[in-house]
Amino acid sequence: MAKEVKTIGVLTSGGDAPGMNAAIRAVVRTAIHKGLKVKGIMRGYAGLLQEEIVDMDGLSVADIINRGGTILYTARCQEFTTPEGQQKGAEICRKHGIDGIVVIGGDGSFQGAGKLSALGINTIGLPGTIDLDIACTDYTIGFDTAVNTAMEAIDRIRDTSTSHERCSIVEVMGRNAGYIALWCGIANGAEDILLPEKYNGDEQELINRIIDNRKRGKKHHIIVNAEGIGHSASMAKRIEAATGIETRATILGHMQRGGTPTCKDRMYASIMGAKAVDLLAEGKSNRVVAYKGGAFVDFDIQEALAMTKHIPEDEYEISKILVR
Ligand code: ADP
Ligand code: F6P
Repeated sequence: MAKEVKTIGVLTSGGDAPGMNAAIRAVVRTAIHKGLKVKGIMRGYAGLLQEEIVDMDGLSVADIINRGGTILYTARCQEFTTPEGQQKGAEICRKHGIDGIVVIGGDGSFQGAGKLSALGINTIGLPGTIDLDIACTDYTIGFDTAVNTAMEAIDRIRDTSTSHERCSIVEVMGRNAGYIALWCGIANGAEDILLPEKYNGDEQELINRIIDNRKRGKKHHIIVNAEGIGHSASMAKRIEAATGIETRATILGHMQRGGTPTCKDRMYASIMGAKAVDLLAEGKSNRVVAYKGGAFVDFDIQEALAMTKHIPEDEYEISKILVR
């Protein structure tokens, strides 16, 4: 028989992402609408183990849907990766009357959510990361804001790059995944897009293309380089030496993680937050909410973690055709 959930906890874990606040707000207000109590767990699993737990009501999430970051703060927590830490976390949940938890984070956070579920605390994961690197879902909370922020920054770099007739390497985040780089590369019309999943490391090929483009009359050469490849500064030096074209590197860094969330991130995060509470209220546990094939769905956490996803071949091919 499904376990009845009366009090829900919500936490954010791993890297923050714009739209997490919209998800928290949706969890809190949907739970209250269903007659459930809600507790905010500060600083992810670290805060759970420190019992940093606060009561939340509808007003405690007022004025946050438009704010980047997470009002619950976030952290990474080594102790929670151990069986002892997980056991302690489950006991603290029971002590505070928390029988269901919504965990907003990435794959690492879902591993922890799966462990809590196995220990009798009903858990639901929401995909929160700017990297879009969660296999079970076509959308992650924060990606849309991050790519728009990066795209605007690259547009600005393009202006000055053209004026000075330079080559510009712009490094975007994404950890080991190239989704931010691919989307910005296409949206910014970058001459080259270097993705960890695709780049063969042949810098001479890159240099030849820069020289060819200059001969064809191109005024700039924008290279969007993914963090997973990195080394943008040294790459810039080598390119300048080999081509004679002034080359600058910019690492966009954490600016991509902040800022006011886009409409899409607010909207999708709100729907996902509400759906997480629906699942808990139905007595479900060990599920991840996802957006797949145009619909909001949910998967078993272990099945979701076992899935793989790849850079769409057609999008990558199109990115190469459009800049020639
Ligand atoms: P993300 O959730 O964005 O992938 P991390 O990989 O840093 O970020 O994971 C966030 C937190 O989730 C970790 O600091 C840790 O507390 C918890 N976590 C990660 N892996 C596990 C695991 N195998 N078992 C339990 N908890 C885990
Ligand atoms: O997962 C989000 C992300 O911003 C990655 O793109 C990046 O590799 C990482 O987090 C940076 O982590 P930190 O903020 O701990 O430096």
